[in-house]
Amino acid sequence: MTAQLRPIEPATYAREVLPLTASLWAAGRDLETYVRHTLELASSGYGRRHYSTMGLYDGSTLSASCKRYERDIRVGERTLKAVGIGAVFTPGELRGRGYASAMLASLMDREHAAGIDALYLFSDIEPEFYKALGFVPFPSRVFSLRADDLPHARMTMKHATSEDLASIRRSFVRHERMRPWSFKRTPLYWEWLYLRTRHGSEHPNGDALTFVLREGTRVDAYVTGVRSPAHDSFIVDELGLRDERERDILAPFLRSAAGDLRRIVGWLPPEPIRKSLPRGSIRRRSDAIFMVAPISKAAHAWVRAAAIGGIGDPVWSTDHI
Ligand SMILES: CC(C)(COP(=O)(O)OP(=O)(O)OC[C@H]1O[C@@H](n2cnc3c(N)ncnc32)[C@H](O)[C@@H]1OP(=O)(O)O)[C@@H](O)C(=O)NCCC(=O)NCCS
Repeated sequence: MTAQLRPIEPATYAREVLPLTASLWAAGRDLETYVRHTLELASSGYGRRHYSTMGLYDGSTLSASCKRYERDIRVGERTLKAVGIGAVFTPGELRGRGYASAMLASLMDREHAAGIDALYLFSDIEPEFYKALGFVPFPSRVFSLRADDLPHARMTMKHATSEDLASIRRSFVRHERMRPWSFKRTPLYWEWLYLRTRHGSEHPNGDALTFVLREGTRVDAYVTGVRSPAHDSFIVDELGLRDERERDILAPFLRSAAGDLRRIVGWLPPEPIRKSLPRGSIRRRSDAIFMVAPISKAAHAWVRAAAIGGIGDPVWSTDHI
């Protein structure tokens, strides 16, 4: 195969790829909205600097495509440069000819030559496909709690306002520093995250809301998630505490955030928050399996140690691409 890997301009990607992937990834949005949101992401601050779309061209035919996101990973005091891959796609009539594998292999060569340490993705298909290319699965689990099992306490929970964001970010960063490794979040990345939340690209079932437990200007706890009556669940994306020693507030806080929904579910949070999570059931995810392909020596050493995992999972669902 003499196919070639090339960047795809946002407008070309919108025209040639999005109509084919809408049924998979539009998350309930109509095509026009899906296209508009995707272009908005591409032209955002993070989008212009750290995001692109790539295609494998066989002659003039766009045979496979994907999205490419740059993120830094802190490992101890070191920084590794990572590239996230999303929306891996081959048009139906071209499948089974090796195009997606060839695209990913070319991308890995290209990233290696550019000094990138690792690639990562969230697999929605059998991980064997990505394992064959050198991706290693990391623990990827979900938790589920029954709201009725949690203690009830009268607490004044509020919707977060823009004034709470700095406190929320501070809590988040402090938790992340307590782990052996984590994805870094720059101000541009936070903006990107808020934009994606506004688009609802991750949640076909409702809008993500952030609740805070606020005392004056002090935010003692926060949780971002979606109340989904269809699933009788509050789906948690991210949560945090100002002070882990006050972890007793988390259970009644989550219960309040769930309103009258029966269950509280979500990806198993990373440490240290995972330790504060009330007891419930935990099982492996069947989709969005986090996988990493190390392509530098430093990344190989990190993945060997990190893939074993601990009692918490390594990433938040807000890192999903
Ligand atoms: C997955 C996908 C990108 C593979 O593209 P492709 O160009 O056909 O891939 P290749 O020819 O390089 O490899 C084909 C292999 O992919 C694997 N594969 C394809 N779909 C798969 C699935 N749903 N589950 C597990 N493995 C799958 C199989 O091992 C297949 O081998 P086979 O043809 O012998 O059965 C394509 O099927 C697709 O676009 N699917 C819809 C979008 C999607 O699910 N993307 C992945 C998101 S994580």
